[in-house]
Amino acid sequence: MSKYTIRGGNKIEGRLAIRGAKNSILPIIAATILNESVSTIHNVPDISDVYVMIKILESIGCKVKYEDGTLVVDSSNISSMEIDEHYVRKMRSSIIVMGAMIGRLDYTKISHPGGCAIGSRPIDLHLNALKELGVRIEEDDGFIKCFKDKLVGSTINFEFPSVGATENTMLAAVKAKGTTKIYNAAREPEIEDLQDFLNSMGAKVRGAGTNYIEIEGVETLHEVEHTVIPDRIAIGTYMVASAMTGGCLEVDRVIIPHMEPISDKLRAAGCNIEYKGNGLVMTPPKIIQAIDLVRTSPHPGFPTDMQAQLMSLMALSNGTSVFHETIFENRFMHCAELTRLGANIKYITENICMIKGVANLHNAKVKSPDLRGGAALILAALTINGETEVSNIYHVERGYENIEQTLRSLGAEILKIENLEKVKGC
Ligand code: EPU
Repeated sequence: MSKYTIRGGNKIEGRLAIRGAKNSILPIIAATILNESVSTIHNVPDISDVYVMIKILESIGCKVKYEDGTLVVDSSNISSMEIDEHYVRKMRSSIIVMGAMIGRLDYTKISHPGGCAIGSRPIDLHLNALKELGVRIEEDDGFIKCFKDKLVGSTINFEFPSVGATENTMLAAVKAKGTTKIYNAAREPEIEDLQDFLNSMGAKVRGAGTNYIEIEGVETLHEVEHTVIPDRIAIGTYMVASAMTGGCLEVDRVIIPHMEPISDKLRAAGCNIEYKGNGLVMTPPKIIQAIDLVRTSPHPGFPTDMQAQLMSLMALSNGTSVFHETIFENRFMHCAELTRLGANIKYITENICMIKGVANLHNAKVKSPDLRGGAALILAALTINGETEVSNIYHVERGYENIEQTLRSLGAEILKIENLEKVKGC
């Protein structure tokens, strides 16, 4: 298994520019399936999840070129209606192609994604929404078969604002007959980015970013060029690295409102954050302040994708913080590993834990439990004087482009020890 060895103690400081958001590019790549033409996408991060999506597109007959952060997809010919189970197993979020496939074709078959490390992650909301649009769905032996008996605009009222279900519905509705109304839609910035991409290729979507999205079906789409929004979670992760190590960080190319739920918590921890033009400057706290309660919630609440990293920061705070994870039922796996590094964490319930700040963490060998949990361990290691080993880093590489080179450019002593390993994700 590949791993990082980290000798902490250096300040993480300097200037940073982050490429496009993982959670934007994945649905946008899925959306290219709808387009019977060429899609050109810029600012595409070089992460393993993107390669899984590229493989999926190639497996159904699309021609794909990815170079220097630009992805060109020619989806004029689709030669397969089925998505190979192998890819859905590699990356759970590949279920996002389902809406686009049934928007484009009369039939599609995809493996059920099942649960993953961070939770059971059912897709009932995705399937119910597609059924509302007239798609007949048969679930059989772990596979989902979708038949486009018809595809008509409808009213969908989500009982929870699921990101993936909102995206799958938008993708299917783009070519439906009539208007689709989504109530209680997810409001994440990545959904706005998907709307912008879809509209740039001729779709008629409005409302993304609010909890009501309306999609007026169109018959044809056309060539498109789009630039993906910066990754707010990757930026937040590096901000925590600087906050934990006492470094000042300047980040170019941020979308300020997207950063606010994260900046708000970092300010509560004592960081000073100033927005300048389309960048930000973060000055670390002299003493890391404990935050009484960190509760994850859908956007614009505090993102679950930053929970583990913020917990690392709180491990070194001047008091006690309570974390309440409300989005996923099993997103505390990093706690056991942080404890190995000396963090003082106590479970209250499965989804609530209490962390009491300590003066220093200490080195150990730890394993990334998942993408964000792995990032949290790297952050903790950056503060530790001895050598810390973080293994199972394929999780981290799913979502962070060149994390070790980026951290090195900001002052970290981090090395990647390569080994052959199985890549899998969720
Ligand atoms: N849920 C259901 N039924 C559904 C769909 C979701 O019960 O049909 C539940 C899930 O089990 C989960 C909660 O609703 O407990 C939230 O799931 P959601 O559908 O909103 O999340 P997702 O689309 O599966 C995306 C991101 C995640 C991010 C969440 C929440 C992508 C590719 N993934 O997942 O990103 O945590 O939204 O913001 O966009 C990450 O980047 O580390 C990551 C896990």
